[in-house]
Formats: sequence, C-alpha cells, structure tokens
Amino acid sequence: PDSVGDDITAVAHKVSLRDRQSVNRHKPGVLWLTGLSGSGKSTIAMEVERRLFAKGYQVFVLDGDNVRQGLNADLGFSPEDRAENVRRIGEVAHLFAQAGMIVIAAFISPYRADRDRARAASPGLFHEIFVKAPVEECQRRDPKGLYAKARQGGIAEFTGVTAPYEQPVNPELEIDTASLSIDEAVEVVLRYVEQDMQRD
Ligand code: PPS
Repeated sequence: PDSVGDDITAVAHKVSLRDRQSVNRHKPGVLWLTGLSGSGKSTIAMEVERRLFAKGYQVFVLDGDNVRQGLNADLGFSPEDRAENVRRIGEVAHLFAQAGMIVIAAFISPYRADRDRARAASPGLFHEIFVKAPVEECQRRDPKGLYAKARQGGIAEFTGVTAPYEQPVNPELEIDTASLSIDEAVEVVLRYVEQDMQRD
C-alpha cells in the first residue's frame, strides 16, 4: 500500500505571510533558546515576551516545562524522546511563525542534530540563541533542586550530569548569563529583535 503521505496535498492559504507581516508590522521568526537547566532560558524568554508584547509585537513563549505538561506529556528524557520533543516544538514553532508571530522557544535541546532539524523546519526564520552558563554555575544556582537530586541518582539522564549537552557551533546570538544580569541579557535579545526582525 502507498504511504499516508501520498494522499496528502498541501492547501494554499489566501492570507499570505506578507499580509500578516504588514498588519503586525514586524517579521515573524523563531527565537530558539538553548542551554542547560538553570542557565536562564525561561526567565529570559518570559521577560523578552513581556517587553516585546508591551511594544506591540505578536509574541508567544513555548517553554519546556509547560509543553511537557500537554503536547509532549508522553515524552521522557531519553535521546529519542528529546529528539521527538524538539521535533514537535520545531513544527509548532513553524506554525506560529507562519501565523506571523515571533515565537520564543526555550528548551534545553541538548543535541545539535535536533536543533538543526528545528532550524530546517523554519527556513530563514530560525534564530538560535545560546544561553550560556558553565554547568558549575547552573549547579550552584540549582533553582529547582534538580542538580542535587540528579547527583544523588534521583533523576536519570540529567543534562550536564549524566546526559550530554552539545554546545551550538554558530548560533545567531550567544548570551553569557554568568557575566550578564537578567536585565542585560534581555536587552541583548531585544536589540537583536529590533535590528533583525524590524518592522517594515
Ligand atoms: S529537552 O532536552 O529539550 O527535551 O528538555 P526540555 O523539554 O527543555 O525540558 C527540560 C526541563 O525538564 C526538567 N527535567 C529535566 N531536564 C533535563 N534532564 C532531565 N533528565 C530532566 N528531567 C526533568 C527540568 O525542569 C527542565 O527544565 P529547565 O527549565 O531547563 O530547568
């Protein structure tokens, strides 16, 4: 038998991305924040969302802990499940971007190949932002007590302890949260958005 894909034909929208862009008065895009647990991804994402929204941008955050309670509630933290987690987020982010929005995706997304797939899902609209902090610093912060728990053997395959994190090679932006305050980090992202996703 034929595969299911053979019976699917894409339907064209009558509202173009350009149409949406001229109403929103900014470009769409996916700001993909990757980094260790405790590096500051969620904090930065939520504050950037707040500040962009206040300036009139159409913006929405997709965050690891939130998405894993719903869409990806069936997935764990094996390499295969993380790949599927990131694949689905990549597709959802693409849909949001097609709707004209700026998506801020905040996921550890520790594997380069998975991030590259998410990039490929949103051609020309994907901006990889490395939220960088040494693992020692993240362990020291340990806002949810997860590093301590992982070190005691309470969490299998914990990123930075018993599972790998592959650093981005050529991210569009790198934010060093060991040396910047949250506010400074947020400013760096806002400046990037204003330069790169500027209103027409
Ligand atoms: S991934 O790797 O991109 O699929 O992970 P993500 O969807 O971002 O989910 C990360 C959050 O899940 C919690 N958590 C774990 N993280 C890493 N490794 C293991 N084993 C694990 N188990 C639970 C943790 O709260 C992560 O949230 P953040 O905000 O990154 O600390």
